[in-house]
Amino acid sequence: MTKITAAISAVGKYVPDYILTNKELETYVDTNDEWITTRTGIKERRILKGEGLGTSYMAIKASEDLIKKAHLDPKEIDLVIVATATPDLQVASTAAYVASEIGATNAFGYDLQAACSSFLYGMSTAASYIASGRYKKVLLIGADKMSSIIDYSDRATCIIFGDGAGAALFEPNLENLGLQDEYLRSDGVGRDFLRIEAGGSMMPTTLETVQQKKHFVYQEGKTVFKYAVSNMADVAEKMLTRNNLSESDIQWLVAHQANKRIIEATANRVGVAAEKVMMNIHRYGNTTSATLPLLLADYEKELKKGDNLIFAAFGGGFTWGAAYLKWAYNS
Ligand code: UT7
Repeated sequence: MTKITAAISAVGKYVPDYILTNKELETYVDTNDEWITTRTGIKERRILKGEGLGTSYMAIKASEDLIKKAHLDPKEIDLVIVATATPDLQVASTAAYVASEIGATNAFGYDLQAACSSFLYGMSTAASYIASGRYKKVLLIGADKMSSIIDYSDRATCIIFGDGAGAALFEPNLENLGLQDEYLRSDGVGRDFLRIEAGGSMMPTTLETVQQKKHFVYQEGKTVFKYAVSNMADVAEKMLTRNNLSESDIQWLVAHQANKRIIEATANRVGVAAEKVMMNIHRYGNTTSATLPLLLADYEKELKKGDNLIFAAFGGGFTWGAAYLKWAYNS
């Protein structure tokens, strides 16, 4: 019997119109364009403005972009997964709302939260549903409205994050294209270094937690940086060695866009040349769950059927991992 693999058959994206530049950030906190550019590689990020607009707004737009490009009937979608750290609401599934709004009326939907590794973990989840043979079309969306949880008076975090969404459709493939391998890890030691302290079950919201700004992202950047550099490089290298791949077999490195220096360190470890490293951090900053699908959408035209892609991500928790995927179409 032919093995069913799960391939990405279409991608879509959405980023908000408003551009928050390094120059504008200089007016909020003690920072400067030169510091931000050399330490992170970020020049600007997108911010979702507008009363009442949450992560679902961007997830819907990214899905509609995919649906239009792929000439897809949304009624054929079996499952919608929204990978996000910033759901519209506590408790109510953002994905359920997104599925209804895009017309995926035959789908069920739920959210997946693993901080900056959400989309990578979601790839594993989506691919497993497809490989089971029970589902034919799984829409995986990575979307985050990071501006809703960032303190714009904290220079350690406000320079990094941005808003955006990307979507990928997973379908069965009989040519052995799509997801080939994955190595996913986590370590709870990380939660002291990158987190939102209040608003969860451990520390419910009170007047004090709001006044103490405990509902914003806190990050001990240097520590997270050290873990990210070594762990992302380790897992990316593992994907190559475990699959007998050498640098020349790899067409693209698709790495979480948290810091240009972390991406470059990962590329150096696996020996991938700069022109094979997807990069859009300078335009969007760190969009958390959206970085990987935004890269796929931005580079879609350059991707060729059969290309070998190595994915790598690292995020809060800590959560991290890598995946090896064969691209399935020419656009
Ligand atoms: O996506 C999830 C995972 N997250 C990550 O992977 C992020 C990992 N961390 C990082 O990317 C980096 O640690 C940051 C970009 C957050 C910070 O860069 P860094 O090179 O680690 O800087 P630092 O925190 O060690 O600070 C260096 C200096 C300090 O000054 P002194 O003590 O040397 O005088 C900071 O006070 O830079 C100062 N500084 C700034 N200066 C201007 C910190 N933030 C800023 C700023 N503008 N925004």
